Amino acid sequence: MIHFDIITIHPELLTGPLDHSIIKRGRDKGLIEINLINLRDYTTDKHRTVDDYAYGGGAGMVMMIEPVAKCLDDLRKQRSYDEIIYLSPDGKLLDQQLCNRFSLYKNLVLLCGHYKGIDERIREHLITMEVSIGDYVLTGGELAAAVLCDSVGRLIPGVMSDETSALSDSFQDNLLAPPVFTRPAEFNGWKVPEILLSGNEKLIYDWKHDQALKRTLERRPGLLSDDPPN
Ligand code: ADE
Repeated sequence: MIHFDIITIHPELLTGPLDHSIIKRGRDKGLIEINLINLRDYTTDKHRTVDDYAYGGGAGMVMMIEPVAKCLDDLRKQRSYDEIIYLSPDGKLLDQQLCNRFSLYKNLVLLCGHYKGIDERIREHLITMEVSIGDYVLTGGELAAAVLCDSVGRLIPGVMSDETSALSDSFQDNLLAPPVFTRPAEFNGWKVPEILLSGNEKLIYDWKHDQALKRTLERRPGLLSDDPPN
């Protein structure tokens, strides 16, 4: 079981992606809990203001510390958290290893902010970790939070119908996945590799491993080196 509290000013960006397919099934089974919190519920003014002009000038508005602090105070009264994560391109790159680590946790907060626009004191004092989903800039952290919930949620035992399928993923052994085929055995003259039709389990296992290795060498040789990509 894993519980996510996601703090956002755009909850509607997260309802769709996390309410279908495997993650929905995990939620229905009570194995994944996703609680969307609208940061505006922690404001006190009529306009439900969550941002303000930057001290010293500069482009764009800055997310204020007070609603975030209030929200986190409220959440901490209900449970203790393994990490309070701010989604940001400055953060630690999310890879399979980090997903595996998160999947062992019980309670996570994901704070979605706006790049360039969150008071630095939130980052210094209120969050415990920053996570990036890649070296590109999104308009906000919401889609990154959805990626994190999806990639971590599917690792929770019982969420995937065949538990071994998460273990045989690309990256779990630092190898990309081998190619897969289904019927028909021939289409347009393009044939499924003979060995997969042979019924010989040992040969098929070795073939898949060779293919995974070949694919990794060709496409992502960095995964095979000792240096971690992070
Ligand atoms: N917010 C904006 N860009 C992001 C990224 N690449 N990863 C995580 N959060 C972000």
